[in-house]
Amino acid sequence: MKLEILNNYSEMVAVAADIFAKQISEKPDSVLCLATGSTPVGVYQNLIKKVENKEISFKDVKTFNLDEYQGLDANHPESYRYFMNDNLFNHIDINIDNTKVPSGVGNLDEIAKEYDAAIDAAGGIDLLILGIGSNGHIAFNEPGTPFGSYTHTLKLDERTRMDNARFFDGNIDEVPTHAITMGIYSIIRAKKIILLANGKHKARAVKETVQGEITTDVPASILQVHPDVTIIMDHDAASFLGD
Ligand code: F6R
Repeated sequence: MKLEILNNYSEMVAVAADIFAKQISEKPDSVLCLATGSTPVGVYQNLIKKVENKEISFKDVKTFNLDEYQGLDANHPESYRYFMNDNLFNHIDINIDNTKVPSGVGNLDEIAKEYDAAIDAAGGIDLLILGIGSNGHIAFNEPGTPFGSYTHTLKLDERTRMDNARFFDGNIDEVPTHAITMGIYSIIRAKKIILLANGKHKARAVKETVQGEITTDVPASILQVHPDVTIIMDHDAASFLGD
């Protein structure tokens, strides 16, 4: 695991965006896997600028997203499809047909089964970005999820629903109870992974991920066995390391 500890969020997202830009420059038809939530927003803002400045093009890029809430369709402002269109896809030169977000409506078991097959058909993921939950989740793989899991549906932890209530006017009752997510095995098959974490509320999860036992109690701890993971964090998120 490579650790990059930076002074603030804007430095973190600039470093992450440069990793994406290098990937796309070296392989213009890269397959990327993208995350939602508050953490990657600045990365996407930097990527939009790089497209505007003609430093990179998403013309031949394919993307897959990590997860989606069950029951929210693309028009719901808190659906992850809406988030991705709004925060990235609508502002870059990507072919929207080449962007996949698992659908939260329909037969989710079928959708899950087809998702990993679609990733394989695209040639596998070259670069994948993760945030981390305060409970150590990656994507929506909550503690206890088997490391061998593929894309699947799940019940969200109450802690995750509480953490995410801020996106639903602070009302936990509005936060969906279930979701569809790429599994842990679907994630660690990516060739290169970057995980971003900022803020004190992520410090415990970061410490357990980097220095703890590899255990399904901390889903992100599996990243210790991946050959190409970079964790990009600020001093607050890194503040428990070494204790
Ligand atoms: C989002 C996702 C989640 C978030 C995590 C952190 O697609 O998969 O695992 O990355 O919950 O969320 P934020 O960035 O909002 O703190």
